[in-house]
Amino acid sequence: MGITIQDMRTRPLRDLRISVTDRCNFRCVYCMPKEVFGRDFAFVPQNRLLTFEEIARLARIFIDHGVRKIRLTGGEPLVRRDLPRLIAMLAAIPGLDDLTLTTNGSLLAKQARALKEAGLRRVTVSLDSLDDAVFMAMNDVDFPVERVLEGIDAAAAAGLTPIKVNMVVKRGLNDGNILDMARHFRGTGHVLRFIEYMDVGTTNGWRLDDVLPAAETVRTINAEFPLEPLDSNYPGEVANRYRYRDGAGEIGLIASVTRPFCGDCTRARLSPEGALYTCLFATVGHDFRALLREGRSDEEIGARVRSLWGKRDDRYSELRSSETIGLPKVEMSYIGG
Ligand code: GTP
Ligand code: 5AD
Ligand code: SF4
Ligand code: SF4
Repeated sequence: MGITIQDMRTRPLRDLRISVTDRCNFRCVYCMPKEVFGRDFAFVPQNRLLTFEEIARLARIFIDHGVRKIRLTGGEPLVRRDLPRLIAMLAAIPGLDDLTLTTNGSLLAKQARALKEAGLRRVTVSLDSLDDAVFMAMNDVDFPVERVLEGIDAAAAAGLTPIKVNMVVKRGLNDGNILDMARHFRGTGHVLRFIEYMDVGTTNGWRLDDVLPAAETVRTINAEFPLEPLDSNYPGEVANRYRYRDGAGEIGLIASVTRPFCGDCTRARLSPEGALYTCLFATVGHDFRALLREGRSDEEIGARVRSLWGKRDDRYSELRSSETIGLPKVEMSYIGG
C-alpha cells in the first residue's frame, strides 16, 4: 500500500517518529538540564500543538508515502492527556507494520493496559542505571529505579512486547553500571540497548570525551557474559545486535557517534507543533500545521511530503565535526530522539 519515495541518497521514507509533547516529568542531565528547562522555560502552548485529528491525518498521508512504522515520542509521550485515544486512531489506519512508543516508564504502571487496549504493539523504556543514586543524579527529579521497573513489569504483563530498554551511557556518570544492567535484563526477554551519548540540541554541553564507544561496552560485557553478533532485524535498524552465547537473550548497541548509520536512515520526525524534520540534527523544520490549518487537501500536503523527501540529503552523524557541533540544532526533548 502507498508509494515509495526516495531522497537524494536513494533512501526511502519508512518510519515516522511523532513527538506528541515537548514536556517531560524528568530533567535528565543529558537532555533537559534544569538550568535551561527551569520554571521559566516556555513550552509549546496548547493551541500550537497538533490535535490528535491533525496528527492522525498527517500519519495517514505519510503512510500513503511509504511509512510502515510509527513511534510516538516526546518529551515524555505519556504526559500528553488522553494518549490512548490517539493510539486508537493511529492503529485504525491500514498499512502500518509497527506502532510503538519510547517512554521514561514513570507513568507506565498506570497506563500500560489502556495503551495495549488502544492498539499499541510494544514499548521502549529508557532506564540509565539500576543504582538509585546514579539514576536520580541522571533524571534529576529523584525518581526511583523501582518505579521504572514496575512500569516495565506492567508493560510486559499487558503484552506490550518485546520490550526494549534504552540506557544512554555517559562516561564517568553511569558507565560503571553497564554490567549490572546486563546482568539484570539477561534472561528476561527484554532487549537492553546501550546508546552512545549524542550531541543532540545545544543545551546538554556534549563533549566527545563523555562518549563511551559502543565497542568498549561490548568488550566489558563480553568479558563477563560472552557475546556473538547477530544480523539486523530489518534494513536501517539503528542498533547493532548481539546475543549471549549461553542463550540468555540479546542486547543492542546504538553507536551513532562511533559508527553512524545515516546510509540507510529512513526516518522522518514530526514535532509537537507539526514541523517535519528530515534529520535528528536538523536546524530547521518544515511547517505542516500551517498547511493543515489553511485547509489544504491531502494531495497538496502529500505533494509537500514528496518535495521535501526528494530534496533530503541529511547525514549529520557521518559529517559530525567541529563545524557541525555548534549549529543551532533542535532539542531532543522537542523532537524525541
Ligand atoms: P526500534 O524500532 O526498537 O529499533 O527503535 P529505535 O532504536 O529506532 O528508537 P528509540 O526511540 O528507542 O531510539 C534509540 C536511540 O537511537 C535514541 O537515542 C535515539 O535518539 C537514537 N536514534 C533513533 N533514530 C536515530 C537516527 O535516525 N539518528 C540518530 N543519530 N539517532 C537515532
Ligand atoms: N544521546 C543519546 N540518547 C539520548 N536520549 C536522550 N538524549 C540523548 C542523547 N543526548 C535517549 C533517551 C531515550 C531515547 C529516545 O533517546 O534516553 O531512550
Ligand atoms: Fe525526559 Fe526522555 Fe529527555 Fe529524560 S531523556 S528528560 S525522560 S525526554
Ligand atoms: Fe538519519 Fe540524521 Fe540520524 Fe543520520 S544523523 S541517521 S541522517 S537522523
